[in-house]
Amino acid sequence: MTDMAGENGAGDQAMSQGDLFSKFDGIIQQRETLLSSGVADPFSLVMEKVLSPTRAICNGRETILLGTYNYMGMTFDPDVIAAGKSALDNFGSGTTGSRVLNGTYQGHKECEEALKEFYAMDHAMVFSTGYQANLGIISTIAGKEDYIVLDIDSHASIWDGCALGNAQIVPFKHNDIEAMEKRLRRIPEGAGKLVVLEGVYSMLGDIAPLKEMIAVAKKYDAMVLVDEAHSMGFIGPNGRGVAEEQGVLDDVDFVIGTFSKSVGTVGGFCVSNHPKFEVMRLVCRPYVFTASLPPSVVATAATSIRKLMHGGAKRAHLWENSRTLHGGLKDLGFQIGTETPQSAIIAVIMPDLERGAAMWEALLHEGLYVNLARPPATPANMTLLRCSLCAEHSVEQVQTILGMFERAGKAVGII
Ligand SMILES: Cc1ncc(COP(=O)(O)O)c(C=O)c1O
Repeated sequence: MTDMAGENGAGDQAMSQGDLFSKFDGIIQQRETLLSSGVADPFSLVMEKVLSPTRAICNGRETILLGTYNYMGMTFDPDVIAAGKSALDNFGSGTTGSRVLNGTYQGHKECEEALKEFYAMDHAMVFSTGYQANLGIISTIAGKEDYIVLDIDSHASIWDGCALGNAQIVPFKHNDIEAMEKRLRRIPEGAGKLVVLEGVYSMLGDIAPLKEMIAVAKKYDAMVLVDEAHSMGFIGPNGRGVAEEQGVLDDVDFVIGTFSKSVGTVGGFCVSNHPKFEVMRLVCRPYVFTASLPPSVVATAATSIRKLMHGGAKRAHLWENSRTLHGGLKDLGFQIGTETPQSAIIAVIMPDLERGAAMWEALLHEGLYVNLARPPATPANMTLLRCSLCAEHSVEQVQTILGMFERAGKAVGII
């Protein structure tokens, strides 16, 4: 008799036709091939200790962090930390409930007030993540008879928001104003339309021509949602994002954002001036059917958002860092995702996954952490080393980073 609990039994089961995991064989194989080449797994790095927004101990070695999206370096801000500690002491570790039941504390309301002030908008709704904010708002406002027109390079949370709802989905070529207009023109007259755009596209770090795109959307009577996840806190005179920078924030119906980047904690939000916006709290399932953020998190978020309102000097330094890194890498001979620095993301294009992984590892050995991104997450099947700068990176650190790229690039044969 076969021992079904033993190795053979389990093996037989895994091989059987009905194994629902067989669809992942391709990705398992790709990973095994990569690891068998001797390279470290780029997707299982552990931060053993975090020393500051720009430094951590990884594999026992002090490492400069250049892939955290911690753009404004708020994670160790003393006021932010103090607010979190005080909320833990006074409100406990979690709410154990939905926002519409027992999960709205004073801190959640204060966080929404801070967001309303930050954006100078009438309504703000805090979600447990930015992913859920997109999931919830997109799937709820665009219904069965409606159309969603979106950039093909949209973030997964936008696509998943489309998939969760019942609207017709109409993608257009990345940042192509004409392609977007063509799609809008074809939509039956009178149908509800939602155009979904991002301020900064996080793979290549390029920005959207929001001014032109929003003008087109309005011409066709579409509502506009802009995800400013990678621009909030940094881009625009008040850090409100690319729509503010391009002078079109008043024409945006919904701004989506996250606390997991410039704000330096976790959570998501939507702000809007729509007079009926508050109804979302009753009908938006990813808001209603999940627990609210812990009190310490909303306290850190509110404090951070209020400080970001006065972050002009930090924003200027972050732009300086972005320009220096972009120019320096280009001068070294690396291929960059954008011709000019457009955001705090600098994407270095790798020739293929193997050399990308080797370069990622060589940088880690140098003491530098960046993000390795590969298809299908990347556009045009590219392998990218994505660098995200922080306002807390010093001028010296950026020079050190350039030296690390030069040595690693030469060792791997990329430059
Ligand atoms: C454009 C964009 N939108 C939304 C999100 C989701 O944010 P969160 O980390 O809060 O779920 C991300 C996160 O990477 C993002 O890049």
